[in-house]
Amino acid sequence: MTTSSKAPVRAVILAAGQGKRMKSARAKVLHDVLGKSIITRIIDAVDSLKPEKIHVVIGHQAEAVENYLLANPALYPFSTHLQSPQLGTGHALQQVVPDLGDFKGTLLVTVGDTPLLSGKTLGELVTRHQAEHAAVSLLTAVVDDAKKYGRIVRDRDGSVLKIVEDKDTSDLEKHIKEVNPAIYCFEWPIIAKGLESLRNDNQQKEYYLTDLIAWARAQNLIVSSSIVGDWREVIGINTRLELVEAMHLMRDKVLTDLSLESGVTIIDRASTWISPEVEIGEDSVVLPGCHLTGEIKIGRDCVIGPHTVMQGKVVVGNRTVITQSLVVNTQLGDDCRVGPYAHLREHTLVADKCRVGNFVELKKSSVASNTNVSHLSYIGDAELGSNVNIGAGTITANYDHSTGIKSGTVIADGASTGSNSVLVAPIKLGKQSVVAAGTVATKDVPDGALAVARVRQENKEGWSSRKKGKTSAPSVS
Ligand code: UD1
Ligand code: CA
Repeated sequence: MTTSSKAPVRAVILAAGQGKRMKSARAKVLHDVLGKSIITRIIDAVDSLKPEKIHVVIGHQAEAVENYLLANPALYPFSTHLQSPQLGTGHALQQVVPDLGDFKGTLLVTVGDTPLLSGKTLGELVTRHQAEHAAVSLLTAVVDDAKKYGRIVRDRDGSVLKIVEDKDTSDLEKHIKEVNPAIYCFEWPIIAKGLESLRNDNQQKEYYLTDLIAWARAQNLIVSSSIVGDWREVIGINTRLELVEAMHLMRDKVLTDLSLESGVTIIDRASTWISPEVEIGEDSVVLPGCHLTGEIKIGRDCVIGPHTVMQGKVVVGNRTVITQSLVVNTQLGDDCRVGPYAHLREHTLVADKCRVGNFVELKKSSVASNTNVSHLSYIGDAELGSNVNIGAGTITANYDHSTGIKSGTVIADGASTGSNSVLVAPIKLGKQSVVAAGTVATKDVPDGALAVARVRQENKEGWSSRKKGKTSAPSVS
């Protein structure tokens, strides 16, 4: 627990709704926001509080959401709860009740469509809820445009009386600018009776979780509320426009933090997309058109871009320059030069002072220091030593299409390949060995040896003039 109190906390994420307004075949919570799905972003925020369990209520596309959660195993204990049919947010929370058993403590309940929500804000909500011994606590947000959010109705003394859904508002209530982001703490089992007694006599014929606030007031229970510092953190996603708005807000915050706190120069904010997980060291420069989404760590004094894409787990050392390239699940050392138009993928490891040049693809390969793969090469399932020089157009033939088997290539320290060599794997090139240009090497090359496997050149003297004499010149008109 990161909260001051020791009272147990369980989290509930409501993710059963259809998300009709997204106009999508995919469940709303599985849509991507800068490299992570909405649900993963919420789970990350919730999980930072280390709740004893996370309950996820699923319904619409339940199987897809459940499979997604199972395929992305996390460290937290979680369970899914099927809500079918989906009769509203209150009905959604009711589905978790059988699994609560004799749990006594705080239920942190959040909707499943607020990807910008931070663990810090959730932590503050829980801390305050427990410190005030509240039965119900809610976050609120003050906005210019209340859109379709539920409105917060306060008493004369300023305390929260109830939440009114947009569709149920009176003309007067419609003008309220304080809204409900739908992030609450409920003390269990104090609110159990209230949850049981929810009714659906409203415009949408749904069981509203929001009605618990008025219920708690009627029972003279403590209702606590706090206004979120930055309303943008709690925007809910209901349409594609809001999905993109969330991405823009997230990106803007990331770029500002990188610029002002990490000392990174971001040349063109409009064309740069960096996810919150990315770390970049001081004095590095990100040129226009970069998309860096994933668990990415870039060192100091690097130059990234223009037009470089990084995804997955990427580590880049210091003073490395990566130009117009695609880098996925790759580790690069210090003082490397990559690109333009290089493609590094699938657990590739490149040590310090290497050059990976234009139109080079490295797949599942390791490259030791001071090695150059400068032009037009495919290196897959290979282990390259240090001070190796790979000539232009060298290809590791690592895949046997008939058997589907992939084989490895080992190129020892100081070896070199000439242009257009094909290394048919499995194969090993010894230390300081040389493969001559145009060679198709099918067997190992000993240390220090030269491998040549190509048709010996034959020069036919005078061939050109003899040929000209025989053929009639084309007529020029
Ligand atoms: C809800 C709140 C509203 C708040 C808004 C914030 C209620 C009644 N209203 O409205 O006050 O301003 O969120 O975004 O709670 N869900 C289920 N099962 C259901 C219905 C919804 O699990 O039967 C889930 C959805 O997957 C979603 C969340 O609950 O993650 C909110 O549902 P949504 O339909 O978007 O509610 P809003 O109308 O936005
Ligand atoms: Ca919503």
